[in-house]
Amino acid sequence: MSDLTDIRQDIEETNVQYEYINKLKELVREKSNKLNRELTYNVTTFGCQMNARDSEKLVGILEEVGYVPADDEKADFVIYNTCTVRENANNKVYGRLGYLHSLKKKNPEMIIALCGCMMQEEVVINKLKESYKFVNLIFGTHNIFKFPELLYNTFQSEDMIIDIWEDTKRIVEKLPVSRKYSFKSGVNIMFGCNNFCSYCIVPYVRGRERSRLPEEIIDEIKSLVDDGVKEVMLLGQNVNSYGKGLDEDINFAKLLKKVDEIEGLERIRFMTSHPKDLSDELIEVMASSKNVCKHLHLPLQSGSSDILTKMNRHYTKDDYLRLVDKIRDKIPDIALTTDIIVGFPGETEEDFLETMDVVRQVEFDSAFTFIYSKRTGTPAAAMDNQVPEDIVKDRFDRLLEEVQSISRKKANAYTGSVQSVLVENVNAQDNTLVSGRMSNNSIVHFPGNKSLIGSIVNVRLTECKGFYYIGELDG
Ligand code: SAH
Ligand code: SF4
Ligand code: F3S
Repeated sequence: MSDLTDIRQDIEETNVQYEYINKLKELVREKSNKLNRELTYNVTTFGCQMNARDSEKLVGILEEVGYVPADDEKADFVIYNTCTVRENANNKVYGRLGYLHSLKKKNPEMIIALCGCMMQEEVVINKLKESYKFVNLIFGTHNIFKFPELLYNTFQSEDMIIDIWEDTKRIVEKLPVSRKYSFKSGVNIMFGCNNFCSYCIVPYVRGRERSRLPEEIIDEIKSLVDDGVKEVMLLGQNVNSYGKGLDEDINFAKLLKKVDEIEGLERIRFMTSHPKDLSDELIEVMASSKNVCKHLHLPLQSGSSDILTKMNRHYTKDDYLRLVDKIRDKIPDIALTTDIIVGFPGETEEDFLETMDVVRQVEFDSAFTFIYSKRTGTPAAAMDNQVPEDIVKDRFDRLLEEVQSISRKKANAYTGSVQSVLVENVNAQDNTLVSGRMSNNSIVHFPGNKSLIGSIVNVRLTECKGFYYIGELDG
């Protein structure tokens, strides 16, 4: 079946779900009349930007059918959108489920639901069935579009409803979405991942790569702009493989160029780029674009070519360094950030020093550092030579210190400059200040009030506080 046939079917699916939305509206109205109060919801998101965007879809549907937001988990409908990229992400969810159980005993109306990446693991589902029988609804990453139908079924049933798909080819468009911010939005350009980095569980829980049609993406962004959005973040596990499998002549560089031409859109970001297939064409488009932000997140994972091979990353230390040179040559003021894993199986002190060497040579503006976490079912979990915990911890501390001292040095170099800043919110600690993001993704706090939220202003950076700045409006 071609991709287009699939997508046509999906329009029918959208209509099916809208029918459930209408039925749910009635059910919610009846229930709130009976209780003589509005029904409340609370959505908690774990994990990455992709999950955050999925949560906006859940909220969109909940609000459409008549639920109102609650400040915390004392609500009539509570859902955890889970992540399983590292073991500690899972542990957090189990911990908090105990608390939800105690809330449910006080509110018999309460519905508890779980969705997201963790639900795609069989061991998790077995454990939930066995020991967390109070959960009402469980679904996965591939059928999130079925949420209206599943919620409707939950209303009708006393039993735990579980609906997990192993994979999907389908992309269902145009269901309600409620954005967290009025002025910026994530936009999925693709789903899933085909890279199978040997440590990573994402391809198993998010399925095979599927790209959305470019015209669907452009239409969505245009309507976001009409609705006041100034900044979009194009989302995919590896945006550089966007377009593979579509019938059209499109790739990520071409898509980015089209997005850059959208009238009224002021900023474009994207996540994530895999170094193995970041093309010269993309660098050209970024360099010549009007609105693409001066920031590239380029996960390194390790600086050792041996470890990179074992990680199945398809580049060497030198490939990475050459790529960075090429990018900086064309876009000198670009901020580079990265992800690094410490303690991959078989990592020696020499391997680790190669990572430190790349960190020193590249001087990342910032880096997320992770301790390797063994994920059941991935090739790395079965490798010999798992590195002892104390050694990993020691390397992690040394890496963090290096990364942070470089970040501080890099950040200081901007002090005194004037930057364009998208104002995001009033500062939580001091309400005489507002906070916003520069093109390079750094945060600056400066005097102002909520009328500035959502506008792009010039700010002079007066002081660097390490990972953020203090500034003042300029002109
Ligand atoms: N698709 C993105 C990354 C998604 S996961 C990419 O390839 O860049 C985000 C980060 O989590 C990864 O970049 C990696 O550094 C980290 N990560 C993934 N699996 C991990 C594991 N098993 N243990 C520790 N960190 C991991
Ligand atoms: Fe995981 Fe690699 Fe895919 Fe990123 S590219 S999601 S690290 S398998
Ligand atoms: Fe986590 Fe799933 Fe994202 S595992 S990092 S929420 S794709």
